[in-house]
Amino acid sequence: MSKYRETLSKLEAIGQEHLLRFFADLGEGQQTALLGQIARLDLDAIPRLVDRYVRNPAKFSPPTDVLPVDAYPNDPKSARKQWDKAKYRAAGEALLKAGRVGAFMVAGGQGSRLGYDGPKGCFRAGEVSRRSLFEFFGLGIRRAEMRYGKPVPWYIMTSPQNHESTQAYFTEHRWFGLDPANIMFFQQGVLPSFDMKTGKILLAKPDEVATNPDGHGGSIAALSRSGAIADMKRRGIEHLSYFQVDNPLVRTLDPIFLGLHSSAPDSSGEMSSKMIPKTDPKEKVGVFALVLRDGRRGVDVIEYSDFPAALAEERLPDGTLRFNAGSIAVHILSVAFLEKLASDANFELPYHRAEKKVPYVDLDTGDVVQPTSNNGVKLEKFIFDAIPLCRQSLVMETDRVEEFAPIKNATGVDSAESCAQIQTLRAARWLEAIGVRVPRRMDGTPDCMLEIDPLHGAEPDDLRERVSGLVIKPGERRVI
Ligand code: UD1
Repeated sequence: MSKYRETLSKLEAIGQEHLLRFFADLGEGQQTALLGQIARLDLDAIPRLVDRYVRNPAKFSPPTDVLPVDAYPNDPKSARKQWDKAKYRAAGEALLKAGRVGAFMVAGGQGSRLGYDGPKGCFRAGEVSRRSLFEFFGLGIRRAEMRYGKPVPWYIMTSPQNHESTQAYFTEHRWFGLDPANIMFFQQGVLPSFDMKTGKILLAKPDEVATNPDGHGGSIAALSRSGAIADMKRRGIEHLSYFQVDNPLVRTLDPIFLGLHSSAPDSSGEMSSKMIPKTDPKEKVGVFALVLRDGRRGVDVIEYSDFPAALAEERLPDGTLRFNAGSIAVHILSVAFLEKLASDANFELPYHRAEKKVPYVDLDTGDVVQPTSNNGVKLEKFIFDAIPLCRQSLVMETDRVEEFAPIKNATGVDSAESCAQIQTLRAARWLEAIGVRVPRRMDGTPDCMLEIDPLHGAEPDDLRERVSGLVIKPGERRVI
């Protein structure tokens, strides 16, 4: 049977044969490409996905029995919970010195909100240095390698859309001084995008199926499929420091967080998370909460869009939000946990459904239509849905100015501009902590633009020698 006939009969069996509607009009190369693209889709899974998530989506019922999480407070002397930061820092540093830690960045997203054409990590995150997001992370990792004397392999998840351009960017920038032998790029999977009403898979072009990356939750299967987990085991890597591509302030390798994750009594060492206290109930971050599932209460992340507004608004007597544990999407995952999940044939993270405007081919005319309202459904899996699968998972609080200034939007909140402001606030705070005067305006904001070179310091003390005698003039722009 020809490849065409074989594909057609498989598609007919699942009611998706329209994908070959224009086959006869295509050139030979286009025909081969289309058949190849269809062959890479998991066709057996399609009817179940269409039925469950596209045509008859269960009405989402927000969890009602939720309690706030008991996070490790940023201030270890807090009356709420006291803990020994120095002890956990030593435990984390021991792991780094033994070369047991890798970095894991998810960079496969489409970055559509930013409106930037190209891998989001190439976007400029240094207002003064003009460094990209990728470079910030690369330099942070290099610093840890220099400090702890061991390579930190860096696993980077891309998607088919940006895989080659991401790799080319790293090559062009000579891997930011890192050894390319310790950097592994691997691609996440894709899922077809569906017509919202009919459940038919959309065609992006007569010779191309409309697809979308399968979400950062797709990383668990992709890490296994690509050989990344095998690579980690070969190198003796036990834990991965996970971060997203949009936050240049992330502590790529935080010894305290690593130590807590790996040795705190209430951690199973499988997956841990960092949070910042939310002050605005409407802030667009996921919320950590203790949720009752199958008779067991455990940590979970509830996406901002799913978190019941009444709960989000609840306040404690001191005015703070009761559910204030905002996710900055920073985690540590153990390699053993990832391997356990990936090797379990019954394991599947839930799919989340998003209704979007998806350009599509009109099946009668063959023309590409740009919809003006939502016409399509994209499905994605989220990595934080693995948290409830842990035996015990902990959450550590951190400070917003120290660690969270994501670039998501072109302007306003979470933009390059707000990121530069937060970077300046952080640098000013660090400099003042080690005795350098920073010019401030009448309203207290720094009258300068400052940026910390991630290679120079991961905390204020690292900068001491470098800044001795430093004078910052009002209006100055400077990289420290
Ligand atoms: C995300 C979190 C949110 C958290 C916030 C903190 C989700 C669904 N929500 O929101 O809980 O509070 O960050 O900043 O993640 N990515 C892939 N492949 C994909 C999709 C995304 O690698 O298929 C990567 C992106 O490249 C990016 C990260 O995942 O690095 C986050 O994706 P995005 O969709 O931008 O999440 P947010 O809505 O910003």
